[in-house]
Amino acid sequence: MKRIAVLTSGGDAPGMNAAIRAVVRTGTQKGMEVFGVSLGYSGLIDGKFIPMGPRDVGGIIQKGGTILGSARCEEFKTEAGRMKALRALNGNGIEGLVVIGGNGSQTGSYALSEMGFPVVGVASTIDNDLVGSDITIGVDTALNIALEAIDRLKVTGSSHQRAFLLEVMGRKCGYLALMAAIAGGAETVILPEVDVDPHEIVEILANAYERGKSHAIVVVAEGAKYNATKLAEFFEEHNEEIGFALRVTILGHVQRGGSPSAQDRILGSRLGAGAVDCLAKGEYGVLVGWVSNALKATPLKDVVGKTKPIDMELFELARILD
Ligand code: F6P
Repeated sequence: MKRIAVLTSGGDAPGMNAAIRAVVRTGTQKGMEVFGVSLGYSGLIDGKFIPMGPRDVGGIIQKGGTILGSARCEEFKTEAGRMKALRALNGNGIEGLVVIGGNGSQTGSYALSEMGFPVVGVASTIDNDLVGSDITIGVDTALNIALEAIDRLKVTGSSHQRAFLLEVMGRKCGYLALMAAIAGGAETVILPEVDVDPHEIVEILANAYERGKSHAIVVVAEGAKYNATKLAEFFEEHNEEIGFALRVTILGHVQRGGSPSAQDRILGSRLGAGAVDCLAKGEYGVLVGWVSNALKATPLKDVVGKTKPIDMELFELARILD
């Protein structure tokens, strides 16, 4: 394989640049010509290929986001859109494609690979909901941002005897919320995967107040049935019972920005290099992920349309340690 391309798709994740850098440098070292595709699948449809050499990816490993740009592309979900992308790849003599992204992006890779094009996915999303990788690019940084928010909220919360409902990203997956709650010592956590009666949360907060805590943190996953806004509405009628005054903080996209952590830079580098190795060996239609402390290529057909479950033992631990 002599000409390959790389794109980033879906929500950006800190560490994507490390993966791009690794694809470009590993590919070049193997004697390949490497092209970056700007703006994900929409750039692919429009044939936006940029030749990239080792120097073009200098000074990017410490940067968040993606130097290639990303997009959520509706056109690529249609057969006509995918045909255009295939024509652009073939027309530019590209023989293999690396797709760095999460669930939706890898559904796209699978579709392209089913059309006969050699594609390798790289597991990248802050949500950590992708089957085929224990941990995905961006998770560690996003988690540490949530943790820093908790630490800061505890400081201001203690000064005012307040409880904070902190909503974190993660789509329908509670991984980030659960891990942030454990690492931040939150009073409780609300996940999409576990049904909760909001009266129970009132009790937990009231109990914390009675025990003399100076603050309380409830970490809420954005995809939970009761997100932070709904929970705050419910709590309006229970203010006296709770004791603490309540405030809501929604972290949102703040979690996706910022410089990638060491772990995300290393993971991005390993997975990016691993993807090029797969293309070079002729191993296509796979997702390169990190499983049991090693690189692993999992067939895309076993990845798409699935969601990784959360670890219920960790959920129990979060409850015990509150
Ligand atoms: O998938 C990553 C993610 O940040 C989710 O956690 C979040 O629900 C979603 O993307 C937000 O999407 P957008 O950036 O399109 O608003």
